[in-house]
Amino acid sequence: MEERVVSQAAYGEDDHAESSIRPLDFDQYIGQEKVKKNLEVFIEAAKMREESLDHVLLYGPPGLGKTTLAMIIANEMGVNIRTTSGPAIERPGDLAAVLTALEPGDVLFIDEIHRLPRSVEEVLYPAMEDFCIDIIIGKESTARSVRLDLPPFTLIGATTRAGMLSSPLRDRFGVHSRLEYYKEEELSKIVARSGELMGVVMEEKAAMEMARRSRGTPRVANRLLRRVRDFAQVEGSGEISIELADSALENLQVDRLGLDEIDHKLLRSIIEKFRGGPVGVEAVAATIGEEANTLEDVYEPYLMQIGFLVRTPRGRRVTPLVYEHLHMEVPDNE
Ligand code: ADE
Repeated sequence: MEERVVSQAAYGEDDHAESSIRPLDFDQYIGQEKVKKNLEVFIEAAKMREESLDHVLLYGPPGLGKTTLAMIIANEMGVNIRTTSGPAIERPGDLAAVLTALEPGDVLFIDEIHRLPRSVEEVLYPAMEDFCIDIIIGKESTARSVRLDLPPFTLIGATTRAGMLSSPLRDRFGVHSRLEYYKEEELSKIVARSGELMGVVMEEKAAMEMARRSRGTPRVANRLLRRVRDFAQVEGSGEISIELADSALENLQVDRLGLDEIDHKLLRSIIEKFRGGPVGVEAVAATIGEEANTLEDVYEPYLMQIGFLVRTPRGRRVTPLVYEHLHMEVPDNE
């Protein structure tokens, strides 16, 4: 995949930097007010009953803070968190090893849970429901199934695609929380907070400008902040004024709406090669040399959110807003 300043890969170059500014509790966590409020109630109730928290499914576009929330939940519950991901658990035995190592009340966080193999999912059902697993011991004629009790635990699953989860798995989560794109004011507060933790002086207007161009996503906002800080250090006084932020963002080729080269390529390709659509995502992906999955998970959700792209039964179509944004003539058939 092409390098991208607004890349939202969860385990990218800035992973270490990300963890140093991660909020540690609900008080530090900005935005997602509804999700936060509900979780606070469920956590308090579970603590009053001295029970483990019910299993939580967090879903929504990448970069909105699912991992952060899982860590906060564990922290607020006063328990440990173990982190893994769907693709990392290849066989039922891998999951059994993780589950049997849990302490009572612990949180097990499984990122990209929609990518768990089906054979592993089946081990997860009784683990979630009855806190036990059935493992096979021995081979062939001597093979027998042994039931192992597990300590009560909380599974937190995260996915960008709730629709790709099998319904038996989805139904076993007692709490479903959908994360939404952040508002500009929230992102601006996040940028200001991160700047403070990083020891950067910044004008409020500059924080607003970075917020405006971060496509509703804190991970993008924080990454833009780091790159703008680089420009401030090398080409400026070290402080981030609005002028410096504007010019740095221009150099980063992030436009007024936070769209970058790849968004532009995607939109132009639909207009120029497919007459504005409708066109299937596979065809667009092949044309611009990106993975269809990446387009679906990372690029399209935001373009749909801002009304640039619509999904029809026959594929994606751009809207007249795109022609305006790219300074192109709207064709007659629009
Ligand atoms: N950094 C990333 N996401 C955040 C959030 N929601 N609140 C505060 N800081 C953040």
